Amino acid sequence: MEMVEGINSLLKRIYHEKILARKIIDDFIREQNLSSKERRKVTDFLYDCIRFIGYVKNKNFNVTFNEISELKTKEFTLDKNTLINTFGFNEEIAEKIIKSIDSLDLFKLFLNRAPLTIRANMLKTTREKLLLEYSKKFKKYELKFTEFSPYGLQFDNHINVRALDKFKKGYFEIQDEASQLVTFIIPLKPGNNILDICAGAGGKSLSLASHFYNSVYIDAYDIDKKRLAILRQRARVSEAKINIVKKPKPFYYDVVLVDAPCSGLGTWRRDVDLNIRTTNSSLKKKIELQQNIFDNALNAAKKGGYIVYVTCSFLKDENEMQVDYFLNKYKNKIELIPVSEFLDPNYYSQLIDNDFFKTTPAQNSMDSFFGAIFKKLV
Ligand SMILES: C[S@@+](CC[C@H](N)C(=O)[O-])C[C@H]1O[C@@H](n2cnc3c(N)ncnc32)[C@H](O)[C@@H]1O
Repeated sequence: MEMVEGINSLLKRIYHEKILARKIIDDFIREQNLSSKERRKVTDFLYDCIRFIGYVKNKNFNVTFNEISELKTKEFTLDKNTLINTFGFNEEIAEKIIKSIDSLDLFKLFLNRAPLTIRANMLKTTREKLLLEYSKKFKKYELKFTEFSPYGLQFDNHINVRALDKFKKGYFEIQDEASQLVTFIIPLKPGNNILDICAGAGGKSLSLASHFYNSVYIDAYDIDKKRLAILRQRARVSEAKINIVKKPKPFYYDVVLVDAPCSGLGTWRRDVDLNIRTTNSSLKKKIELQQNIFDNALNAAKKGGYIVYVTCSFLKDENEMQVDYFLNKYKNKIELIPVSEFLDPNYYSQLIDNDFFKTTPAQNSMDSFFGAIFKKLV
């Protein structure tokens, strides 16, 4: 009983303060005296409550385990009312989701738990070697190759791979298959140089260094120095050649990768509170930031170089509409290059949507990513 009361106020806090749910849920669970089975049950319940926060809020945050598990099996339609009153999105975001996702089946896939996917670091090992080792070590779990990325392994359960010796030594990274595949749309050849202008903790830079066996020059930049410090450390253990720069060089790079800050809605399965945290003003800020960063990327690319614009969002406002904005703003200065020029449609047709790279959980349970390639003409 006491714990149920705790849950109600916890959910209220997450909803009203729009704070990162994962951390407060972890702290809450740690404080309870629960067996590991109960811990799993309560954690899953809390995450489901957040997914269905519209419903939970309408019940004044008083919901039971049974109610939520029944709700999960109930049929619904993909309309504004459902997105607001069941899933807790605000009205404007609900409209944008409907404009961006037209299939109920696809929307439902975002309600599942995302798989755990790792990427073998080719500078140190192969996924075949990792599969051999870990399928022996984790006999209880199913471990398989990712379908589209030639470097990935997917676990059917979430185990603490960070604790593994091979993770500590840089043999693999935790990276969704869609994020791994971004490497495949980057028009680079050995000897070229690339600027990863939103490098963060280095997911894409590390993946590039591995894919090209350190044969491209990678400059990594980000405004967040703490994330770059993590990148520096991971690059060292991974033996990846990545150069962290204080300032991008102007008119210099063969390719500039903009792994743009975005709503992150394409990763909603992992960050379940994005329905609460995505507001009109947070989205507007992200859209403006994406436009500013694109300007900087264009300045850093050399004439004839490429800008690869990527988001982990399915919202048209951050994807197709941004592409139109860039093309309109830089008429005669940039050209949109169909992704199929670099991503072979014979193998990857499922990941190509018109001129763009697009992934969704419908393809081997990936996150939703978007990618567009531009050539700098002058
Ligand atoms: C989607 S994350 C990057 C993830 C990273 N590339 C990876 O693969 O792990 C977006 C990044 O953009 C950075 N960022 C935000 N504003 C920026 C700016 N004006 N210039 C450069 N980076 C910026 C954020 O700090 C964040 O690390």
